[in-house]
This record gives sequence, C-alpha cells and structure tokens, in this order.
Amino acid sequence: MRTQVAIIGAGPAGLMLGRLLDLAGIDNVIIERKSADYVLGRIRAGVLEQGSVDLMERAQVAGRLRAEGLIHHGTDLSFDGDRLRIDFAGLVGKHVTVYGQTEVTRDLMEARQGNTIYEAGNVAIHDFDGNPAVSWEQDGVTHRLDCDYIAGCDGYHGVSRASVPQEALTTFERTYPFGWLGILVDKPPVAHELIYAHHERGFALCSQRSNTRSRYYVQVPTDEKVENWSDDRFWDELRLRLNPETAEALQTGPSIEKSIAPLRSFVAEPLRFGKLFLAGDAAHIVPPTGAKGLNLAMSDVAMLADAMIELYAEKSAAGIDNYSQRALARIWKAERFSWWMTSLLHTFPETGRFGRRIQRAEFDYLSGSHAAQQVLAENYVGLPA
Ligand code: FAD
Ligand code: PHB
Repeated sequence: MRTQVAIIGAGPAGLMLGRLLDLAGIDNVIIERKSADYVLGRIRAGVLEQGSVDLMERAQVAGRLRAEGLIHHGTDLSFDGDRLRIDFAGLVGKHVTVYGQTEVTRDLMEARQGNTIYEAGNVAIHDFDGNPAVSWEQDGVTHRLDCDYIAGCDGYHGVSRASVPQEALTTFERTYPFGWLGILVDKPPVAHELIYAHHERGFALCSQRSNTRSRYYVQVPTDEKVENWSDDRFWDELRLRLNPETAEALQTGPSIEKSIAPLRSFVAEPLRFGKLFLAGDAAHIVPPTGAKGLNLAMSDVAMLADAMIELYAEKSAAGIDNYSQRALARIWKAERFSWWMTSLLHTFPETGRFGRRIQRAEFDYLSGSHAAQQVLAENYVGLPA
C-alpha cells in the first residue's frame, strides 16, 4: 500500500488533518489503534475558540456545530464565593462556542472520505529520515503503508514522539500534584456560562455540553481513585466549592460518565524530524483550565495542512520548513496561559498562607482592572494563529 500522507491517530487532530488533505486532493490514510466507538466514547474538551469553529467551516463539517453549538459571550470566575464575570464580548469583541470534542470527532468521522484503519495493533514508524513507512498488525497479519510523510497525531502516549531518538528531542514538563474528577449528567447547566471556582478545598468547574447536559469537575489529589467517589460525594463536594446561590441552584442526577484526568504541562521540540511531523497532544499537553488542548490541536493541523498543500500544489517546502517554529510560537503562549489559569485557581499543597494571599490579590487585581480582564479574555477566546 502507498499513500502521500500517513496519519497516526484518529483523534480530532488526525481526523481534521485527514479532512483538510482530502479536500485538497492529497491522498492520506489514518491508522488508529482503538475502535471508532472507543474514540467517540472519550469525554474530553468542550470549548471551541473561533479559530477552531472557522476551521470546522473550512472543513465543511460545521452544520451541526452551527445549529447546536452554544455561543458564550463571557465566563464567570468565583474566588471563595466572590464572583467576577469576564465579558469577552465587551473586552475583546469575541466569543467562544460550547460544543463537545465528541461532537467534533463525530462530525469529522462522518465526513471522512479517505481510508481509516481502526483497531490497528503494534503501530510502528519506519525510516522517517529516508523512505518513510508505517506498519501495523490486524487479525494476525502485518500490514505496511509506504508514504511521503507521516503525521504523528497520536496523543501524548502515542508511538510517534516515542519513535524519535532521545537526543533529537528536547522536552519541557511540569506536572501538577492533582487531577480533575469530571462528571457528565443529563441535567440543565447551573448557569448560562461556565464558572471557574477557586475554593480552599480545591478548584471546581461548572461546564456544559448543551442546555440539557452538564459537565462538572472538582480538583482531586493525583492518586485519587474514581471508585472512591459516589455521585452523592461528588455533588456534596462540588456544592461546598461554589458560592451559596450557585450551590442552591445546582440540579444533580445520576452520572452518565465519571473519570479522572491528570494535569500536566508538556512541550516537545521540535515538531519535525525529517519526514515525520508531530501535531496536537503528541507534541504538547496543557492543563485543561484554559480550555486550550483541543484548540491547540486544531491550530497545529491547520498550519500543517497548509504547509502540505503548499508543498504538493506549489512545490514549495517553505511551509513544512517553518511548521515547527510557527506552531511552537502559538503553543508556548497557550502553555503560559493554561499554567497561569491553573496557578490562580487551584490549591497547591506547597502554597501556604503567603501563596493563598497572592492568589487572592491576583483575583482582586483582575476584579478591579479592565486591562487585566482584557488579557484574560484575549487569551481565553484564542490568540491569532
Ligand atoms: P487525542 O485526542 O489523544 O487523539 C490521539 C489518537 O491517537 C487517539 O484516538 C488514540 O487512540 C490514538 N493513538 C494513540 N496511540 C496510538 C498508536 N500507537 N497508534 C495509533 N493510534 C494511536 N482539553 C480541554 O480543552 N478541556 C478538557 O476538559 C480536556 N479534558 C481532557 C481529558 C483527558 C483525559 C485528556 C487525555 C485530555 C483532555 N483534554 C481536554 C485535552 C484535549 O482533549 C486534547 O488536547 C485533544 O484530545 C487533543 O487531540 P489529539 O487529536 O491531538 O489527541
Ligand atoms: C469541559 O466542558 O469539559 C471543559 C470546559 C472548559 C475547560 C475545561 C473543560 O477549561
């Protein structure tokens, strides 16, 4: 088998890249280790920047997003019960759209024309400096796909980054001593907009998927087990971290999904190794506090698709030569913002009394400063590509 671009991973990055290449007439095959149902069952991000919405439009898959996405003109911060609304529209004239990653993935899967191989075992990358190829196993048979380029869109635990020799890669990492316990419930959201809450018991987030489906999170220690959290325990803890009116208004019910995600900041440099390119979570991780993970994956593949189109259509390698540098410039800004939001809103074991007062001062400064709110809003709605 032969193709122009072999894409590893059918998450949002791989599927969007495949779609953009399909539309440009560039042959591609996606190789995914899980089943399509498994990929669709993963509950992850929920907030799209306008750049991601625009990319869905460009990919001609925005019909449902246009009809069902919820436009949010602002978000709420809560600090020990005190509220501050960040008015995106008034501060920077922009908004975000609430539309789940599951739906983005479904729309891209349904539109896909090219070949996707699901449940591929033992995926391996060969000779990315010379004649690249990808191999995998299925039903006891080993398959091989020769290609011009490989796009590693296989997430943090994927094979792409792991195939690069250690000495060619520089990594930057910060782990946080906590994770997010998330719950999905078929009840209307507690508020029209998201609420990011700092409380001395830990961070909490009130988010949503639709007018009838809500997503809530509480900060828990890294080693916490989901089995220790009955729905009742979750709701009791969430109420304690919200201000009293919000806690009162919360509609609870049986969870339809419950999981814990660790928090991490991570960047691998560069993003190109010969004919292998990394994009999305394969190259970088942000803590979810800034809602940037999915959006960064989208901006990476938009740049990579443009670079490949330039290469095949115009025979210019300028785009692929610049991809790593160009994408990393945006990635690091999102890393900074996500780290900052995480630092402001979570409780850290080492913070101490001084650190807590600094967090409070930061919140008070934000509350009183138009300029500070503008900085937050500008980053949250998404920096330009
Ligand atoms: P992924 O979505 O990870 O997709 C990678 C794909 O590659 C997967 O389908 C995987 O099965 C496949 N794969 C892996 N290894 C191989 C292999 N060896 N061979 C073939 N295929 C392989 N972001 C937010 O903004 N808000 C959130 O609330 C949020 N919650 C998250 C919760 C969790 C548990 C995780 C892990 C991430 C979360 N994120 C969140 C981040 C966001 O979901 C990711 O940034 C986004 O999924 C990145 O898309 P991607 O396509 O790069 O990677
Ligand atoms: C979500 O709805 O899952 C979500 C929203 C905003 C975030 C993180 C997660 O910052």
